[in-house]
Amino acid sequence: MDLRLAGHGALVTGSSSGIGTTIAETLADEGCDVLVHGRDAGAAAAVAERVAARGVRAEVVLGDLTEPGVAEQVALTARDFGAHILVNNAGPFAEHDWDSAQPSDWRAAFEGNVLPTVRVSQTLLPSLRANGWGRVITIGSRAVRTPLPNMVAYSAAKAAVVNMTTSLARHLAGTGVTANCVSPGVIVSPSMFRILQGQTDEQGQADEQGRADGANGGGDTTGHRDGPDEADIVAEYAPNPTGRLGRPEDIASAVAYLASPRADYVNGIELRVDGGITGTP
Ligand SMILES: NC(=O)c1ccc[n+]([C@@H]2O[C@H](COP(=O)([O-])OP(=O)(O)OC[C@H]3O[C@@H](n4cnc5c(N)ncnc54)[C@H](OP(=O)(O)O)[C@@H]3O)[C@@H](O)[C@H]2O)c1
Repeated sequence: MDLRLAGHGALVTGSSSGIGTTIAETLADEGCDVLVHGRDAGAAAAVAERVAARGVRAEVVLGDLTEPGVAEQVALTARDFGAHILVNNAGPFAEHDWDSAQPSDWRAAFEGNVLPTVRVSQTLLPSLRANGWGRVITIGSRAVRTPLPNMVAYSAAKAAVVNMTTSLARHLAGTGVTANCVSPGVIVSPSMFRILQGQTDEQGQADEQGRADGANGGGDTTGHRDGPDEADIVAEYAPNPTGRLGRPEDIASAVAYLASPRADYVNGIELRVDGGITGTP
């Protein structure tokens, strides 16, 4: 199926690594120009090079979205790039439970996940409206439906992101701009890999290096996994009826569909791409 994305432009925040990289590459595979974003200049440039190799326009914008004024600047660069698809992907996670989470941890969770989404979206909205067509796709989490006791602040911040998606979709009624959310399950990105590795270390599980090798499929930064340890990790940390961990491609495919004109009639949803880990409401 042709997603009819050719000729469109997209900003993918946090696309210098992890799931965001795969989203950028997948959109490029569909003919979409991509503005790659991150803080690490070298990593972002390398991703942009791979995106451009697919025959589309690729540029880089750098900046820490938690620093004052940066999110707005990134959005203005996206406007000038011609991006009418915004993927709010950057969203750091950190582990804190109710006993350990300090006010600064709660603040960091909201400053990393909620405020950049607000600032980039708000700044880009006028040009999306003027274009008469646009997409705001924000990455949520399985933690929205199943809040994690070891990631309380992150879970709450991601719940806010879904809530914001609904109000934004309603706000944009009749403009041709839709707002949707994709909520990943446990996806083996470098960040999630570090967390999984920490959990196995803590509980003294099996051979640490074996897990590491299994969990990143031999060093692929996008985190493909096919080692024999995957079933153990799924059973212990991410039980889901599909029986495997998620891959960045699982999320990128969902984002590409929602970004496409094929999804014109899909608006205000949270699409759970989690292998069924959150169950059926
Ligand atoms: N992995 C999972 O299992 C999982 C599950 C549920 C939801 N999610 C969500 O999916 C999204 C992507 O996750 P991921 O696992 O790919 O995360 P990740 O590996 O931590 O993503 C890192 C990317 O985000 C950028 N980034 C982080 N903080 C930033 C900041 N303050 N300003 C600018 N850029 C920043 C990084 O830029 P630099 O490296 O250049 O600094 C990098 O490009 C996030 O919203 C995450 O919460 C992930």
